[in-house]
Amino acid sequence: MSAAPLLQAQDLARHYKVGQGLFKPKATVKALNGVSFTLEARRTLAVVGESGCGKSTLARQLTLIEAPTSGALRLSGTDAAHADKAQLKALRQQVQMVFQNPFASLNPRKSIATTLDEPLLINTSLTKAERRERVEALVAKVGLRPEHLRRYPHMFSGGQRQRIAIARAMILNPKIVVADEPVSALDVSIQAQILNLFMDLQAEFGTGYVFISHNLSVVEHMADDLMVMYLGAAVEYGDKKTIFARPLHPYTRALMSATPALRAADRRERIKIHGELPSPLNPPSGCAFHKRCPLAVERCKVETPRLREVEGRQVACHVV
Ligand SMILES: Nc1ncnc2c1ncn2[C@@H]1O[C@H](COP(=O)(O)OP(=O)(O)OP(=O)(O)O)[C@@H](O)[C@H]1O
Ligand SMILES: [Mg+2]
Repeated sequence: MSAAPLLQAQDLARHYKVGQGLFKPKATVKALNGVSFTLEARRTLAVVGESGCGKSTLARQLTLIEAPTSGALRLSGTDAAHADKAQLKALRQQVQMVFQNPFASLNPRKSIATTLDEPLLINTSLTKAERRERVEALVAKVGLRPEHLRRYPHMFSGGQRQRIAIARAMILNPKIVVADEPVSALDVSIQAQILNLFMDLQAEFGTGYVFISHNLSVVEHMADDLMVMYLGAAVEYGDKKTIFARPLHPYTRALMSATPALRAADRRERIKIHGELPSPLNPPSGCAFHKRCPLAVERCKVETPRLREVEGRQVACHVV
């Protein structure tokens, strides 16, 4: 067996061509503009950044829902771009997704038993009895009862529905689960239970998680590694503890100083950002963050900073 990491993204980019009206040429949205990272088994990479920075676009590349415009994605060492049909089918089983809204992601016409049985029926050669056994065991692990299997999604609470969505993601024993804001639609009182469920399943099955969230308290609880994104690119990437102890990028510092419970971690002066995220159709020159950055200097307007190693993590900033 090779010791290749579960997931390796290298300069992964996804651009979309969008129309701007009848007589104008199409424009390019650089939704994801070159991100690189590695995910190992039993590890959680959290991805944070404000709305529109490309988190869900990244999730769609990692789960092979879309093909990247450029860059490479390796799953357990296999390059997804060069996989044949059979390999692609196997790779798709290795990486599953949990979405934000469990009501929208579950088919209302299918019982929970059918929802969980179908992937096994299609992708494995297990007998009916074996499938039933697997479904029942997993349902118990996610904290539901056997009688729930006969019920339909509308008969469950939001938290229970997310448990079902998690069971569906786990039913084929994936190596990786990509979770896109999996608790942000849930009641605050339920969120911790679902986060703990994710952690229990990871401890038992060794799953690697890519965990997308805008909630830094959630990220602090869940992550091993952290990637902070801004306008389609990583601005800071590395070990969570290192970054939380001393965030370096002005954008990371701003995000953290906006979360009251985290302020103690960063005792330097607070950074406030103003204005909206610029349009990815027309990104600023130089550093994409420079127009909102209180520390920006002349160089930031003209030269795009590359990620470089600073104090044990990677940062893309000219002034740190
Ligand atoms: N299919 C598409 N066609 C054109 N533009 C797209 C498409 N998908 C995403 N975009 C654009 O790419 C950018 C990134 O979108 P994405 O949904 O990945 O952001 P996000 O970080 O997930 O935001 P949110 O936190 O709101 O979920 C946005 O500007 C979005 O409008
Ligand atoms: Mg999104």
